[in-house]
Amino acid sequence: MKFIPILFSLCALGSIDLANAYIPIPLSPKGGKVLSTPARYHKLMQKYGLEGTLQKRGDKIGTIEYTDNFYDVDYVGTVGIGTPPQNFIMDFDTGSSDVWIGTENCSSCRPTQKFDTNQSSTFQLDGFPWKLQYADGSSVSGLTAEDAFTLGGLYTMNQTLGLAENVTGSFANTNLTDGIFGLGFPSLSYTGALMAPVVQMKKQGVIDDAVIGIWLGRAREGGGGELTIGGINPAHYTGEIQYLTVPVKKYWQLNMSSISINQKTFEYRGSSSIVDTGTTLIILPMNLTQDIYNEIPGTRFNSTAGYTIPCNTSQSTEQITFTLNDLPFPINVADIVREEVGDGYCNSGIAGTTSDFTILGDTFLKSYYSVFDYGVDTIARIGFAPSKR
Ligand SMILES: *[C@@H]1O[C@H](CO)[C@@H](O)[C@H](O)[C@H]1NC(C)=O
Ligand SMILES: *[C@@H]1O[C@H](CO)[C@@H](O)[C@H](O)[C@H]1NC(C)=O
Ligand SMILES: *[C@@H]1O[C@H](CO)[C@@H](O)[C@H](O)[C@H]1NC(C)=O
Ligand SMILES: *[C@@H]1O[C@H](CO)[C@@H](O)[C@H](O)[C@H]1NC(C)=O
Ligand SMILES: *[C@@H]1O[C@H](CO)[C@@H](O)[C@H](O)[C@H]1NC(C)=O
Ligand SMILES: *[C@@H]1O[C@H](CO)[C@@H](O)[C@H](O)[C@H]1NC(C)=O
Ligand SMILES: *[C@@H]1O[C@H](CO)[C@@H](O)[C@H](O)[C@H]1NC(C)=O
Ligand SMILES: *[C@@H]1O[C@H](CO)[C@@H](O)[C@H](O)[C@H]1NC(C)=O
Ligand SMILES: *[C@@H]1O[C@H](CO)[C@@H](O)[C@H](O)[C@H]1NC(C)=O
Repeated sequence: MKFIPILFSLCALGSIDLANAYIPIPLSPKGGKVLSTPARYHKLMQKYGLEGTLQKRGDKIGTIEYTDNFYDVDYVGTVGIGTPPQNFIMDFDTGSSDVWIGTENCSSCRPTQKFDTNQSSTFQLDGFPWKLQYADGSSVSGLTAEDAFTLGGLYTMNQTLGLAENVTGSFANTNLTDGIFGLGFPSLSYTGALMAPVVQMKKQGVIDDAVIGIWLGRAREGGGGELTIGGINPAHYTGEIQYLTVPVKKYWQLNMSSISINQKTFEYRGSSSIVDTGTTLIILPMNLTQDIYNEIPGTRFNSTAGYTIPCNTSQSTEQITFTLNDLPFPINVADIVREEVGDGYCNSGIAGTTSDFTILGDTFLKSYYSVFDYGVDTIARIGFAPSKR
């Protein structure tokens, strides 16, 4: 595996010329209520537009249980939009490719969630209608525009922006984020973005390398997190980054061939796994999920809570190893323990799906500092190294 050399000196040559800089954006776990594992799964399937498939199978996913604490939920950070920048709390999401925010014309948005386009000197309305429609009927729609973004102090112009005018369903009922900041490839964009914001920043000379680095802190160690743009932060990993080729520039995905636990190896019959910072859980096919839980003593399953595991699994010294592009990436079984549901039982960070794709969400990513290299004129890669607080 090759290492990209990135220099970490800040140059003081003017606002555009921040070459070789890496710009940290602090991330914090999104507070508020925690969704049970089935509820999280339900929310996720809305994102991937697969709710219909799930309902066809007759799963009882409807009951949403909430608890008041939080445990490694989603990670959010601040983005400035417009000139001068208006700040919003956004969910940085490698699993989607649109940046959207509410505007004055959004009656279902909270006042603080609304970008005031009149106050931005760089705002340009493109005016094409866009819509994200989910199988459960929730949706976000509006018009396309362009404006400047300020990310960790870096100012970048002419970025594609979705102005949300109508936000329904699950998106309307949150005060935890103001919008989504998609970090995926443009082939998945619904707002017509031709370039990922990070790639646009490289083209504009704002950063030297179209890479981002993400560190997600564990809640039980104090939470927090960091996103860097244009470079990576060696303070948050140990050893060397192992880079893996992304087979297709669509999702940030890797080939996955098997998962091992307790010296047993279970093959994955699908092919790729999506690396998604916007998803809390690890999502695997049902059979594989069952195979893994068979190895975790005391696991229970019911349709309301999904799989729950004894909370003292946090004392386990076992590992679960994911084989990605033929290389092993272990995580501690202790790291799949989420918040308690009662009776000494806890929600788990691994959920089953009837679909044939898998997702490595934050439950996986809190063990690995991750580098997303967009590979502007070449292949894209994902790098992992064991993370460090
Ligand atoms: C909001 O709606 C008004 C009236 O239709 C329109 O003039 C204005 O451009 C809209 N604002 C945005 C940001 O789309
Ligand atoms: C923005 O300007 C338009 C046109 O002058 C006006 O109709 C609208 O009310 C303004 N919006 C806000 C939020 O001030
Ligand atoms: C941004 O767009 C404006 C108007 O289309 C154009 O004049 C300007 O050169 C663009 N700036 C960059 C950095 O692409
Ligand atoms: C918002 O979406 C809902 C559901 O699709 C629709 O009934 C409503 O008319 C829309 N409102 C606006 C202002 O477009
Ligand atoms: C979000 O809403 C909940 C309940 O509606 C409220 O308890 C909480 O204080 C709100 N949080 C923020 C940051 O506004
Ligand atoms: C899942 O397990 C069942 C029962 O063992 C088997 O019939 C089915 O083919 C398996 N499905 C997959 C996708 O492996
Ligand atoms: C489902 O499992 C959870 C956690 O073990 C438990 O609290 C709940 O009572 C169970 N519900 C049913 C309907 O059995
Ligand atoms: C959890 O507690 C049960 C019952 O006390 C015990 O049998 C089991 O070994 C414990 N598991 C771990 C990982 O400590
Ligand atoms: C990923 O899997 C596909 C299909 O099996 C294969 O063609 C491709 O070479 C693999 N890529 C990597 C980087 O392992």
